Amino acid sequence: MNPTVEHWYHIIGLNARDALRDDWKFPVDVSTGIWRCDPTVALKPLWLELMKERLNAEIPSLMVFHKPANFTNHVAHIDLLTSNYKPRIFALNWLLGGLHSEMRWYKTPTKPKTVLLTPAGTPYKQWPVSELTQVDSCDIGANLTFVRTDSPHAIFTQNESRWCFSIRPVFKNRSQPTTWEDAVATFQHLLISR
Ligand SMILES: [Fe+2]
Repeated sequence: MNPTVEHWYHIIGLNARDALRDDWKFPVDVSTGIWRCDPTVALKPLWLELMKERLNAEIPSLMVFHKPANFTNHVAHIDLLTSNYKPRIFALNWLLGGLHSEMRWYKTPTKPKTVLLTPAGTPYKQWPVSELTQVDSCDIGANLTFVRTDSPHAIFTQNESRWCFSIRPVFKNRSQPTTWEDAVATFQHLLISR
């Protein structure tokens, strides 16, 4: 079966198990739960080069997220672009820890929402999970996973805390996808069928 757009995530056939530099230091104070990092400081040069080549893209930014054990998200959010506050369509994520944690996606409500800023300065909009309808979920684990970020999403952990690493490629020879359908088409050759 070909990967279709009727999913809110796809596994990418690229390995992230060995991506982190040996000398990268995890934030000690995890209370903010979100950091914008220099990819060259956190990721091994060889892995970063391989990603750029396989994705045919630059990787100018890396977001790092932390969620404690037994965490329940009562709100779901969509990510927005800093430049124009339009929805950010996708990210490529992988986890350390977070055994049996879930990223869950919901239908996007039509009601307008105010733009908010995370402690890392990234814009987003959010809704109470209780008002939303779930459409998909993923236990991301250590696999590099292509996730939808323009549809409300929320994180739930079980009894292990969760580090999430998230790269946001910028394409070299084409414009950025403006829809999930377009993003899926861009990565079609790298997606593993579910
Ligand atoms: Fe997000």
